[in-house]
Amino acid sequence: MKCRVCGQEASIGLRAYNTALCADDFIFFLEKRVSATIRKYHLIETGDTPIVAVSGGKDSLSVWHILNRLGYPADGIYVDLGIGDYSRTSLAKITQMAEKLQRKVYTLHVRDIFERGIDEVARAIRRVPCSACGMIKRYVMNKVCIDRDYNVLVTGHNLDDEAAALLGNLLYWKDEYLWKKSPSLESRDGHLSKKVKPLFLCSEREMAAYAVLSGIDYIYEECPFSVDAKSLEYKGILNNLEESSPGTKLQFIKGYLKRMKVGKKNDEEERDMAYCDTCGYPCYGDKCNMCRLLERFHIEKGMDFDEYDGSSLDSTRPMVT
Ligand code: AMP
Ligand code: FES
Ligand code: ZN
Repeated sequence: MKCRVCGQEASIGLRAYNTALCADDFIFFLEKRVSATIRKYHLIETGDTPIVAVSGGKDSLSVWHILNRLGYPADGIYVDLGIGDYSRTSLAKITQMAEKLQRKVYTLHVRDIFERGIDEVARAIRRVPCSACGMIKRYVMNKVCIDRDYNVLVTGHNLDDEAAALLGNLLYWKDEYLWKKSPSLESRDGHLSKKVKPLFLCSEREMAAYAVLSGIDYIYEECPFSVDAKSLEYKGILNNLEESSPGTKLQFIKGYLKRMKVGKKNDEEERDMAYCDTCGYPCYGDKCNMCRLLERFHIEKGMDFDEYDGSSLDSTRPMVT
């Protein structure tokens, strides 16, 4: 198999694009696609100050790496869920990337706040770990954006994540989530930051290849609590379809985007949405889930973030120009 661009031995075959590329041309191809996605869907614009939610996995470390290479200087934020070696290794990989990119990374340690890891926090409130974890992550990431003036929160969700979620929402006609599956969710009145997914047209396999070929050192293990059986099943079904009809996942997501009204608002939901009396975070009722959780554990102290400054040469605030 030869690289379609330079004729050297190819490193990866891309059946969805009916092509094969060597390492250098693949890296160029993928970064160009991310760049085109950012521009086409207005994910990050001039004057924006993006920050990347990094978990230590291939997708989020890669998107952080790509943004900085494409001229979108971005810092990082990591929520350390206190899951033993898994969380420690993730943080080590993130710190390493912060040094490589010379960017800042904020870390919030769940154990510093709750004096226990996410599994015990969840058990105490009778939730599964990932439900408590999702709630805490959303809150903390938004808080860093609002408190530290980052106006775009970037996540590493890829094509497989989005296609699997869309399939699940369609199968059960979950209207309340269905039309929210956008590559860009707009900000809300200074309370909720804009959220974007620059990798939503890049497959899991492409992202793994990008990370390996770019020498990105990421954590291979999945979070021990994040075994979402349904999502894995949907990914398996979509991979089978992709195998027999290359390009299926891309068509599925692109077809959806054509049909959805970008920025569609659910009026009913907008009406019921209020702001937390204590912290101002959007919620239903007078108190947000995070403030309820802190109250439940009798925690009154504020949230402190570790700030690791990988930017010894350039410590200015990142702004896209
Ligand atoms: P997941 O839901 O685990 O597939 O993660 C989706 C995206 O959320 C990742 O690509 C990251 O951008 C972000 N993310 C997940 N876990 C964390 C974490 N512990 N800290 C910061 N960001 C995270
Ligand atoms: Fe949610 Fe691990 S508990 S990702
Ligand atoms: Zn609150």
